Amino acid sequence: MGANLIDGKAIAATIRQEIHNEVDAMREHHGKVPGLATVLVGARKDSQTYVRMKKRACEEVGIRSFGHDLPADISQDELLEVVRDLNANPEVDGILVQLPLPDHIDDEEILGAVSLEKDVDGFHPLNIGRLSMKRRDPLFVPCTPKGCIELLDRSGVSIEGKRAVVLGRSNIVGLPVAMLLLHRNATVTICHSRTQDLPEVVRQADILIAAVGRPEMVRGDWVNPGAVVIDVGVNAVDDPGSERGYRLVGDVAFDEASEVAAAITPVPGGVGPMTIAMLLRNTLDGALRRIG
Ligand code: GUN
Repeated sequence: MGANLIDGKAIAATIRQEIHNEVDAMREHHGKVPGLATVLVGARKDSQTYVRMKKRACEEVGIRSFGHDLPADISQDELLEVVRDLNANPEVDGILVQLPLPDHIDDEEILGAVSLEKDVDGFHPLNIGRLSMKRRDPLFVPCTPKGCIELLDRSGVSIEGKRAVVLGRSNIVGLPVAMLLLHRNATVTICHSRTQDLPEVVRQADILIAAVGRPEMVRGDWVNPGAVVIDVGVNAVDDPGSERGYRLVGDVAFDEASEVAAAITPVPGGVGPMTIAMLLRNTLDGALRRIG
């Protein structure tokens, strides 16, 4: 392996410690701690795991968490009522509605009902709109994209003027991370499954953000020698040899790419821990803003 490993687990641990210290200071000076409400609808195993990890991370840094686990058949109006109650609750500084929501729920209406000041996921249409315009600061930036930029910054990778290629165009990662890179003066290309000559386009990248959700799609010869590779993918692939019967791989063929790249994130242990650290950061920032 030639590439430097970008250790998201270690960087996220540093950030969690910084947040812990700031939460302690808030308790001391203001007699309160930040509060995060999690809203989980239904019983998807992956969503349950993510929400459990988020709540546990809150506790570790002194942030209170309020869990709302709701039945899969909850109505649109009942769910809206839960969100509105949380908007009005002074102990709640951040509201996280775990996605995806069941098919019968209009998620755009639900995300739009979250108070702008408590939108710690950054998914409110107005926050997304501001992110997509010049010089219009959103109150919150989505956690995974923010975590990707933080990984670059804390690894000493300069973004300005670089060619950045984002593989994937989801609302949660691809589109917002492209905006963040653009705001940092990268030259940004967004590509996807329908892009012609995809390997050739990806090979242009000084900074590659892979977020398509396809196991090991990016091969070593797609990577520009010396590129920095941020792998957002978390894909379970069958692995009869392992205890669980599966293992997690990214969107990038790690062994091949790490022979070519200058630096690369592993999966797991790269972007994943940063997403949670950024959620804590956003919740603390929300609480600080509400204190004034
Ligand atoms: N589902 C997948 N990623 C996310 C995320 O970052 N936030 C929420 N709320 N749901 C998700």
